[in-house]
Amino acid sequence: MARAAQAVIDLSAIEDNFKLAKSLAKGAKAIAIVKADAYGHGAIVVAQRLQPLVSAFGVACIEEALELRENGISAPILLLEGFFSADELPVIAENDFWTALHSTFQVQLIRDAKLSRPINVWPKLDSGMHRLGLDGSEIQSVYQQLTAMDNVAEIVIMSHMACADELDNDMSKRQIEYFDQAVAGLDAEQSLANSPSILAIETSHRQWVRCGLMMYGASPFAQAHENADQLKPAMSFSTEVIAIREVALNESVGYAASFVCDQPRTIATIAIGYADGYDRHIANGSPIIVAGQRAKIAGRISMDMVSVDVSGLVDVKIGSKVELWGNNLPVGEVANAAATIPYTLFTGVSKRVPRVYVN
Ligand SMILES: Cc1ncc(COP(=O)(O)O)c(C=O)c1O
Repeated sequence: MARAAQAVIDLSAIEDNFKLAKSLAKGAKAIAIVKADAYGHGAIVVAQRLQPLVSAFGVACIEEALELRENGISAPILLLEGFFSADELPVIAENDFWTALHSTFQVQLIRDAKLSRPINVWPKLDSGMHRLGLDGSEIQSVYQQLTAMDNVAEIVIMSHMACADELDNDMSKRQIEYFDQAVAGLDAEQSLANSPSILAIETSHRQWVRCGLMMYGASPFAQAHENADQLKPAMSFSTEVIAIREVALNESVGYAASFVCDQPRTIATIAIGYADGYDRHIANGSPIIVAGQRAKIAGRISMDMVSVDVSGLVDVKIGSKVELWGNNLPVGEVANAAATIPYTLFTGVSKRVPRVYVN
């Protein structure tokens, strides 16, 4: 009847993972990060489910925030990348958006704006990532300027951690020390923690945590971790076998003939490809689950199809279920096989793949 590729999204898992973040960062207010269509999980549906639990939502830009408002989301929404031009400021005020503020040109634009009401701003300190943010030498004076502005309501000082997913990396400690020195004496709430910091760096929790990847049930760490190991996968990305053939010794499979049979092999063709977001970098030999059993990718990922070596597996037939990642195969393991991270796999699942929600 229809191509079987789908991403089943377990909303209870997302809720439980968010509750885990809140329980780890006790006393902190938690922001659910739903940018990039909730990391591919569907921002509107995820936000509808989480709204009773969150202190705010986080998105990258005003377009994402407006889409949430237009779909009935009333919680505050933080623009993590801030605003890009003065014309966004009245929209920010009218919609109760909060904005990151990473540069002094934005301070000037807020000062000069005509706003219907004061806005909440999140001045961002560059504590070492050197991507966005005010320098340590600027933050005190920017804070004083903001507190004196009629256009500004509440102020939360934020920064972003560069290496928190690497448990042994002392960059996190250095960033936190730099942050504490730079903001010393300022009477503002603070926000430092992303998922790996929520899971593993208690000193980063402060008054606000920003919870993204962990909410979707993927560990940010390469190794086991007692908190991350409690996460529940929220996306089960699956499809079906659409053809099976016996391929003889020395025959090849797929584009570039990169898989050559070292013995006669049973090859299943499945209905998924890089146009669905099944990354072309997922390498020959990568894991995949066919009819409940582990199998290996054979050759290159095509646009709409993938070949899998199912030699020796039992009960594989046309229509057999294939799990690309989910409860039986962690997305992190697939990401490793593609030399990438779960973030890119999640956000890459394309619109051709229907999202199916379960509660
Ligand atoms: C500023 C900021 N805060 C929080 C997050 C959430 O990070 P994570 O998905 O690791 O929780 C992101 C994501 O990239 C971000 O850019």
